[in-house]
Amino acid sequence: MGHLVTKRRRRALAAALSALGLAAALKGAAAVRDAPAPAPAGPASCAELSPAALRGRRIFHHGALASGEPVEGRLGASGAALHGKAAACAGCHGRSGDGTSEGGVAAPPLTPEQLFAADRAGGAYTAETLAIAVRDGRAPAARELHLVMPRYRLDRAHLDDLHAYLRCVGRDADPDVSPEALRLGAALPLTGRFAAAGAAARDVLAAAFAEVNAQGGVFRRRLELVVADSEDTLDGAAATSRLLDQRVFALVGSVWSGDGDAAARLAADEVPLVGPLGSGLPASDPGDGVVFHLQPGLDTLARVAVAHLAAAPAPTGAGALLVVHPAGPRGDAFLRGARSEALRRGLPAPVSFPFEPGRFDAAAAADAAARLRPRAVLLAGEGDELSRWLAAPSPSATRPRPALYAPAFLMRRDPGSLRLAAAARLLLVHASPTDEAERLDLLSLSSFLERHRVPPRHTAFQASAYAAARVLVEALKRAGAHLTRPGLVAALEELRGFDPGPGPAITFGRNRRVGAYGASLTGVDPASNDVSPVSAWVEVVP
Ligand code: HEC
Repeated sequence: MGHLVTKRRRRALAAALSALGLAAALKGAAAVRDAPAPAPAGPASCAELSPAALRGRRIFHHGALASGEPVEGRLGASGAALHGKAAACAGCHGRSGDGTSEGGVAAPPLTPEQLFAADRAGGAYTAETLAIAVRDGRAPAARELHLVMPRYRLDRAHLDDLHAYLRCVGRDADPDVSPEALRLGAALPLTGRFAAAGAAARDVLAAAFAEVNAQGGVFRRRLELVVADSEDTLDGAAATSRLLDQRVFALVGSVWSGDGDAAARLAADEVPLVGPLGSGLPASDPGDGVVFHLQPGLDTLARVAVAHLAAAPAPTGAGALLVVHPAGPRGDAFLRGARSEALRRGLPAPVSFPFEPGRFDAAAAADAAARLRPRAVLLAGEGDELSRWLAAPSPSATRPRPALYAPAFLMRRDPGSLRLAAAARLLLVHASPTDEAERLDLLSLSSFLERHRVPPRHTAFQASAYAAARVLVEALKRAGAHLTRPGLVAALEELRGFDPGPGPAITFGRNRRVGAYGASLTGVDPASNDVSPVSAWVEVVP
């Protein structure tokens, strides 16, 4: 996968060059080397990095301090600032520190052989001279470094951490990778109320890995599934901590609420989680970090609803949109999505009707709707809010209720609810496609399950687990034989429109951790009470 790595590096260098206005001047001198062969396994001292080297590694690969604070560097004389990931050394010097060159400016190798060799021209680097180079842009023998090498604002302690890591860069085989096997973890509820769903997801993950192993594994590594019981919850925090104690390489299709110490630890240990299950949709895109969501955020569902209703002419006399949502980050994300899309489409700013989670007053919300006469109502919630809204008597018998949009996961599918939904002209917003292609994907999932003798149950859970396994395996293949966690994260970031089977196609990026920005709509037919597609998959700009 050398070309992918090189492309990334070129991007970082090119960005720095253009910030300096140098790109044009140096065009034509471009000389991009092929990525060198993976570094040989290093001395034993690099097999297990010291705490200082681990902190240095974070600066090198992520541009972040152990506290999570972003690192800042300034490009030479122009003073243009690079922050966080954009300031990560790996962006220019390569993930294995093997260097690259672009536009005639070479980011040299920073490997131990290069920096610390006794016979190095100008003298081997020491902690002291490295600090001067990184902070002040002066290499040994007082050589001024090119403007493209940022001048970093880093304390001496952080520079010493970098020094510790540079003694191992390119040799730090991830401690949790062996040539024979890769341990991948999933926190799943195996006891308690959700036990059947948890077991269903576990069986799918195990079958997906068995299929890969039957073909020889990924770069000859067997994929081993390690499951920790999240017990009677879909939260997963405690079980995730246990998996991290067992040093799994990555997490996949694992239940996750995003809260608490486990989230902090996942980020600190840089353990990627691909395709979290069970907590509903992400509120919005976390931007970076280690959790890669396969489904759109709640903000995106609201945006697709607004895009849909904006396409129809406004009924005369209709007011702004009314957004009924729980207070808190998830409801706020839903509201934010509705507001930004309304703005984009020249609609009046939506009116917010927040409620305390678990204390939804359907009658009060219906009253608000009767007063405002909104063009449409967008309703978010966590539980039975939609059922209660549908069951609330319409305050005005003479005026029809406005169009209603709600996330599909809030809908109950019993005949009574469907009848009320049809009468309310409810449109359901789905985080997955609902078209013919999706139906075929689900069919191919059922034949996969049949092949592996996994009984189909909790199919939404199974479909999500299957997609998560597919995305992870694809990224592992792209990450190459010299596998590291930063390498896996980079391979995930390179996915563009990858089709994992069920669910939306997946695109991640440097600052994109939500794989899909779209949704599809269904409605309930008043004659038959059947749910049927109203729109194809609608994408919005991230
Ligand atoms: C935007 C691209 C970029 C980033 C980011 C970057 N460098 Fe550099 N670095 C360069 C370039 C280009 C040079 C070569 C400058 C020269 O030789 O005049 C260089 C040179 C160096 C040198 C001197 C090497 C030698 O052979 O004397 C060191 C040491 C170095 N970088 C360390 C780092 C560290 C550590 C980081 C992260 C904290 C980092 N660099 C981040 C582009 C970058």
